[in-house]
Amino acid sequence: MLVSAKEMMQAARAGHYAIGAFNLNNLEWTKAVLKGAQESNAPVIVQVSEGAGKYMGGFKTVADLVKNLIDSQGITVPVALHLDHGTYNGCKACIEAGFSSIMFDGSSLPFDENEAKTKELVGICNELGMSIEAEVGAIGGEEDGVVGMGECADPAECKKIADLGVTMLAAGIGNIHGVYPEGWPGLRFDVLEAIKAQVGDMPLVLHGGSGIPDSMVQEAIKLGISKINVNTECQIAFAKATRAYIEAGKDQQGKGFDPRKLLAPGTQAITDMVKYKIEVFGSKDKA
Ligand code: 13P
Repeated sequence: MLVSAKEMMQAARAGHYAIGAFNLNNLEWTKAVLKGAQESNAPVIVQVSEGAGKYMGGFKTVADLVKNLIDSQGITVPVALHLDHGTYNGCKACIEAGFSSIMFDGSSLPFDENEAKTKELVGICNELGMSIEAEVGAIGGEEDGVVGMGECADPAECKKIADLGVTMLAAGIGNIHGVYPEGWPGLRFDVLEAIKAQVGDMPLVLHGGSGIPDSMVQEAIKLGISKINVNTECQIAFAKATRAYIEAGKDQQGKGFDPRKLLAPGTQAITDMVKYKIEVFGSKDKA
């Protein structure tokens, strides 16, 4: 059964650890992440972007896949199914499809519009017992081949959105999606502290969790980060293991071209990455 992320976020906030939120891309990914969480005895958030949802056959397919795998794979740890960086319409579609959590990313909208739409969606989620993440201030990443150094959110705007009653809040603190550029100056702990001073006990979300040194991640957790998104590092681990399998010529031997065999090393690499991240985030054995 899927659960809302509310309880696990509040427990993480109080216990000074962070919940791993891992992006899904296909069947293997979904099995791999659930297995990693189960073997770590950790609560977990599995999430899809709108693009990944479309790729996987639509939000309903994703919701049914996750629910059925929880049953068939004997997953007993709490699992929340979350929409990552949702548009307003995407959020409505995921609510309809049976997700247990959404992120409304109104960070590219004028602030007043972000506030109004977040407020409306908070009302719907509260009624349905779902969790909701909001975002203030865009999180950097690659745009037209140029990678920025990471933007920072305005703490006063963070407070306004937090006060709408969201479950968790994503705010830029110099973090970036994808691979961090050469010379990236690191997370802005001063900004994180200023945000924390405004929002109090609101669980904060760190996007772009791949490639940040573990010690920096752990410092951020101490300062109020309670959910950490990881996508790129799982993708790199999957690609590396798959490539190694092919380069070793194993796909040429016997029935090595069988996708169940071909994708097995990469799938295991995702499980291993999930377990590693859960250790770093401190959520092992917190189920
Ligand atoms: P990475 O791909 O950098 O791990 O970021 C994932 C993320 O924040 C998804 O929203």
